[in-house]
Amino acid sequence: MIEDRTTHTSLHHARLKACLFDLDGVLVDTAVYHYKAWKKLANSLDLDFTEEQNEQLKGISRIESLNKILAWGGIEKTDKEKQALATEKNEWYVAMISKMTPSEVLPGTVAFLKAVKEAGYKTALGSASKNSALILERTLLGHFFDEIVDGNLVSKSKPDPEVFLKGASLLGVQPNECVVFEDAVAGIEAAKRGGMKAVGIGSPTVLMAADLVVKNLDQLTVRQLQQLSEL
Ligand code: BG6
Ligand code: MG
Repeated sequence: MIEDRTTHTSLHHARLKACLFDLDGVLVDTAVYHYKAWKKLANSLDLDFTEEQNEQLKGISRIESLNKILAWGGIEKTDKEKQALATEKNEWYVAMISKMTPSEVLPGTVAFLKAVKEAGYKTALGSASKNSALILERTLLGHFFDEIVDGNLVSKSKPDPEVFLKGASLLGVQPNECVVFEDAVAGIEAAKRGGMKAVGIGSPTVLMAADLVVKNLDQLTVRQLQQLSEL
């Protein structure tokens, strides 16, 4: 047991230096736009698409989301057809997010981002989305991040830890000095596989693998973050 404890301490009891934020569902509520666009696409293929199915696409890349929808419907498509379908969905989605305003930033987000910056934490975005630049521009959140890692920079989707490891490396910190904020099961798994702390945004029964779960960032203080490193 003593040996275990020592290992645990040396691996995980680092002081947290960086906050890595997922975008969709953590900082902004874009799930409804993804849902509308995927539903339109599914319906055009004569498939149903429920909110429960939409839940399972959280954190998953665009093409993997399409693959899941096609598999649920038992539909086969060539790679070329899949690209065309994914592009069509994205055009509908982009038309909707192009009209987003800062009022769609989730509760407590701006205050929390200000607080972590003031407390000296480094910050990075760690998102699967290829539309992060547009969303950050529309919601005026871009200036809060030292580094942006999104779907344009990574090749492996969450739950692979690539997106967060890249964020840590760009910020010049070790993985065990990072805390990830995530609303998706796949994102929490990515953080844990990367050797990072994970704060779940959502329901504790869904995000069971997180070190701490809150409903929104407005329920979280910087003080609680430091306590996380002692877990
Ligand atoms: C993630 C969302 O942030 O980005 C997923 O949770 C989405 O639902 C993924 O599929 C890819 O987004 P985009 O904007 O590149 O289609
Ligand atoms: Mg998310």
